[in-house]
Amino acid sequence: MKTLTVDLADRSYDIEIDKNLLASIRFAEEFPYEQRLVLTNNTIYALHSDRILSLVDGDRDRIVIIEDGERYKNLESFAQVHTRLLELEFNRRSLLIAFGGGVIGDLAGFVASTYQRGIDFIQIPTTLLAQVDSSVGGKTAVNHPHGKNMIGTFYQPKRVLIDLSLLSTLPQREYVSGLAEVLKYGFIQDADFLEWMRINYEAILAKDPEVMAEMIYRSCACKKWIVDQDERESGIRATLNLGHTFGHAIEKLMKYQGILHGEAVAIGINMAGYLSCRMGLISKKDQLYITSLLHLFDLPCEAPQSFTPQEFLNVMRLDKKNLTQKIRFVLLESVGKAMITDDIPEAYIIEAIEFGTP
Ligand code: NAD
Ligand code: GLY
Repeated sequence: MKTLTVDLADRSYDIEIDKNLLASIRFAEEFPYEQRLVLTNNTIYALHSDRILSLVDGDRDRIVIIEDGERYKNLESFAQVHTRLLELEFNRRSLLIAFGGGVIGDLAGFVASTYQRGIDFIQIPTTLLAQVDSSVGGKTAVNHPHGKNMIGTFYQPKRVLIDLSLLSTLPQREYVSGLAEVLKYGFIQDADFLEWMRINYEAILAKDPEVMAEMIYRSCACKKWIVDQDERESGIRATLNLGHTFGHAIEKLMKYQGILHGEAVAIGINMAGYLSCRMGLISKKDQLYITSLLHLFDLPCEAPQSFTPQEFLNVMRLDKKNLTQKIRFVLLESVGKAMITDDIPEAYIIEAIEFGTP
């Protein structure tokens, strides 16, 4: 088993990573809470009901199953989980368990941070994206019709349990989409990790357990290193948004249909690579290296449909990550080192949009 500790004083916690982690844990002994409730969705429950039931001693009432999909990461689902906690008379010494991808993790974390002013929760992430990114760092949220992740908190889990065997049922497209966030860590922080990924690409795409364990460990180590320094995103944590300014715009323009988050991020990283080169920060060779890595992992480098630069710019201007009227971008000053700027000529941004759209 590999372990990391997120170091946040009294909010510190361990991330445990293993091939069959859940099978090795005596849950009731390890988590001796008065009551435990699991949040999951219908797809995951259909595939992993035995494991989920074992977390609550076989009591089906202590499992809340929401519909599958980003659109259920909303205030109705939030209220549904609160209602079940109240009906079961859960007190403040209860544990909420997120068993799912980023949607479930973000929703469970938000419920945990608000139920009776805060109860403990743990993350059992079941997608690659959740295992390398969303389960670590304590960002919780639900969506609002006015925008994605608009309502939420910073609230750290008590533990993150990463069981690689859960990924065996994950569709390959979802897995590959998660690889965009893995590559992101290399681009912003660790060029050696990118080379390791390039050398091991076949084993990574084939979900080799040993190689996956190393890849997830190194990704979580990158995220932990950033969260330890900047829990509430007042500085370096924003570099985790490499590719996201462009990517979010693509997702929004496509109304979150027909594209996965990691796919949009991959296209966004390709555009950020172009912009970094255009700004004279990285060489053309480095820019091509970025594109070639995205290709190697079967990730898209161009949006599936075209948009006018103006509609793209309008959406990016509304991004909540902008601090002023200007659009804030994460760029690369070298492969393995990120920087943040809102000082980019609009003409260059339009070129980058044209570069990443058909
Ligand atoms: P998701 O939770 O929607 O899961 C993707 C799909 O995979 C779903 O259909 C789900 O049912 C299915 N699935 C999950 N685990 C499975 C398994 N083991 N086998 C088969 N199918 C499985 O999406 P995601 O990509 O995991 O997460 C995206 C969400 O994460 C977004 O809401 C995003 O805002 C959020 N996010 C949060 C953070 C953070 O720091 N909190 C970071 C990145 C993304
Ligand atoms: N995924 C971005 C963050 O955790 O800050």
